[in-house]
Amino acid sequence: MSSNIGVMGHPIGHTKSPVFQQAGLDELGIAETFEAWDVAPDELEEKVTTFRATGFLAACVTLPHKQAVIPLVDELTEAAEAVGAVNWIFNRDGKLVGHNTDGTGFLRALKENTGFDPAGVDAVVFGAGGAARAIVYALKLAGIARLTIANRTVGKAQALASEFSEGRFKPDAIGLSRDELANCAPYAQLLVNTTSLGMAGGPAEMATPILADMISADAVGYDAVYAPPMTKFLREVENAGATSAGGMTMLVYQGIEGFEMATGQKAPVDTMFAAIGKVLKSG
Ligand code: ATR
Repeated sequence: MSSNIGVMGHPIGHTKSPVFQQAGLDELGIAETFEAWDVAPDELEEKVTTFRATGFLAACVTLPHKQAVIPLVDELTEAAEAVGAVNWIFNRDGKLVGHNTDGTGFLRALKENTGFDPAGVDAVVFGAGGAARAIVYALKLAGIARLTIANRTVGKAQALASEFSEGRFKPDAIGLSRDELANCAPYAQLLVNTTSLGMAGGPAEMATPILADMISADAVGYDAVYAPPMTKFLREVENAGATSAGGMTMLVYQGIEGFEMATGQKAPVDTMFAAIGKVLKSG
C-alpha cells in the first residue's frame, strides 16, 4: 500500500522534495511518509486514479507530467488554469483538484528572502518557457507596473506576452541582444532568469542573459536556476551591487504552499529549509 502523499515524476531520482516535506510532516507529528514515485508517462492515468482513495492527501507533480495531468483531474484552480500546468493535486473527498504553486512560491521566495514587493515595479523576465509562464502569472498577480519578456526566440516571448495581456498590463517582448536589453534592463527593479543559461550540466553553464553593466545597483536579480547555487547571472547581479536571490527558495516555497494546502496546517518553514540545507551541503 502506497503512502498518502508524495511527488511523482520521471525520472524522479534527483528530487529533493521528500527531504524537506518529510521534515515538515515529522515536525508537526503527522504520521505520513512523503514518497517519491517514478511514474512513466504511460502509467500516469493509472497512478492518478489511486489519488482518489479515502485518506489520500496530495501529490506534488513534476516533469514531465505537469501538463499531461490536466485532463486527468476533476477541477483546476485559477492558478493552474492561468499557468497552464499543475504541480500539485489535492484529494478533496475523492475529487481531484489540480493547482499550481510555482508562481506563488516564487513571490513568497522573493518576499521572504529579499523583502521585495513587485507591486508597481518595472521588471524583465528572461525566457519564455514553463518557468517563465509561472513567473509572469505571479508578477501580474502581484500588480507589477511594467514587464518585458526577453527571450532568444522572440516569437515565444510575444506569444507569452499576448496571452497574459489584460487591461493596462501589456508585457513587451524582445530578444536577448544588448541593444534590445539596453532600453529596459538598466531601468528594471527586478530581473528574473528563467532560461537554462547558467544551469549545471547544461549546454551553457558559464552563460548569462545579461551583464553587470546593464543592471541597476537598486535592482533585485532572481535566478530560477538552482544548480549551481551561484550562477553566472547572479554573479553579474552581485557585480552590479544589486541584490541576488536563488532558485532553491522557489522550489521549497512551491512545496510549502502545497504542504499547507495538503495538511491544512502552517508549515514549519525553518525546519524544512534546514532539512534541504543539510542535504545540499552534504552534496
Ligand atoms: P522551463 O520549463 O525550465 O522554462 P523550457 O520550457 O525548456 O524550460 O524553456 C527554456 C528557456 O531557456 C527558453 O526560454 C529558451 O529559449 P528559446 O525559447 O529561445 O528556446 C531558453 N534557452 C535555452 N537555451 C538557451 C540558450 N543557449 N540561449 C538562450 N536561451 C536559451
